[in-house]
Amino acid sequence: MSSSSATTENPSPELPAVREEILDYYARGKEDARIRRGSGRLEFWRTQDVLRRLLPAAPARVLDVGGGSGVHAEWLARDGYEVEVIDPVPLHVDQAGRLPGVTARLGDARALPVEDASQDVVLMLGPLYHLPERPDRVKALSEALRVVRPGGPVVAATINRHAALHDLLRKEHYFDPVHRAHTDEVSATGRHGTVGGLFTTAYFAEPTEVPAEFSEAGLVPEGQYGLEGVAWLMGGVEQWLDDPERREAVMSATRRIESDPALLGASGHVLTAGRRRS
Ligand SMILES: C[S@@+](CC[C@H](N)C(=O)[O-])C[C@H]1O[C@@H](n2cnc3c(N)ncnc32)[C@H](O)[C@@H]1O
Repeated sequence: MSSSSATTENPSPELPAVREEILDYYARGKEDARIRRGSGRLEFWRTQDVLRRLLPAAPARVLDVGGGSGVHAEWLARDGYEVEVIDPVPLHVDQAGRLPGVTARLGDARALPVEDASQDVVLMLGPLYHLPERPDRVKALSEALRVVRPGGPVVAATINRHAALHDLLRKEHYFDPVHRAHTDEVSATGRHGTVGGLFTTAYFAEPTEVPAEFSEAGLVPEGQYGLEGVAWLMGGVEQWLDDPERREAVMSATRRIESDPALLGASGHVLTAGRRRS
């Protein structure tokens, strides 16, 4: 059964709303294709690869917070999970809610419209990108703790601190002085603004920051997984992913180094996994 709901009562009316520029960026509708095509498939397949090892066996209830248009909800539902997407962007809620086996509601990671201890798993693959203030990120993780059952896993994604620097170098945008100044600022502070329209307000995290934020929220951090290794920076990666043999070689090489602390920050994204105490 699939369903969507366009309105959600905010359980914490005092919470600042999700920023307009973030909502506007995602309302453009580009998110659904981002990791289904081209080099973005590496993030998609590696997220799937890591989650399939971390999640309890289906059937189980998965809350996909910041689940966007449902790119991960879709395959999770196909794997037999009961998936609900929570997202602040109406277009995403509409897209995700049409997927077989997926329900979707409007909501904010910092005030989840969900019952205490009602979920077997909480995924947060996106919201921490868009919460530049540490107390907001800890609040979102505290909400994950509240709604997951005792002993249940929480997995959160972050964008790495120097991902913009690496990406812009690769695409040669870094040689444009405006992009370079902004990118150097992101590397120095973690704060990404709206310059150039390439992305929106975001926070680029050092991998080591995230387990500390899990702990502050009351979660027990258990592991970190770099998703793309350095493969995402290679010129031929898109073609490699088109070739099943080369794709498998890239996947297994990236898997082998996924938790090497010296390499975590080289990936574009890191998954941090933790758990609510039993
Ligand atoms: C880069 S997309 C990731 C989508 C999908 N989870 C994925 O992994 O491809 C980030 C998502 O976080 C959502 N988001 C932004 N701020 C949020 C917040 N405060 N609470 C929940 N979701 C938020 C956005 O609407 C968007 O769908």
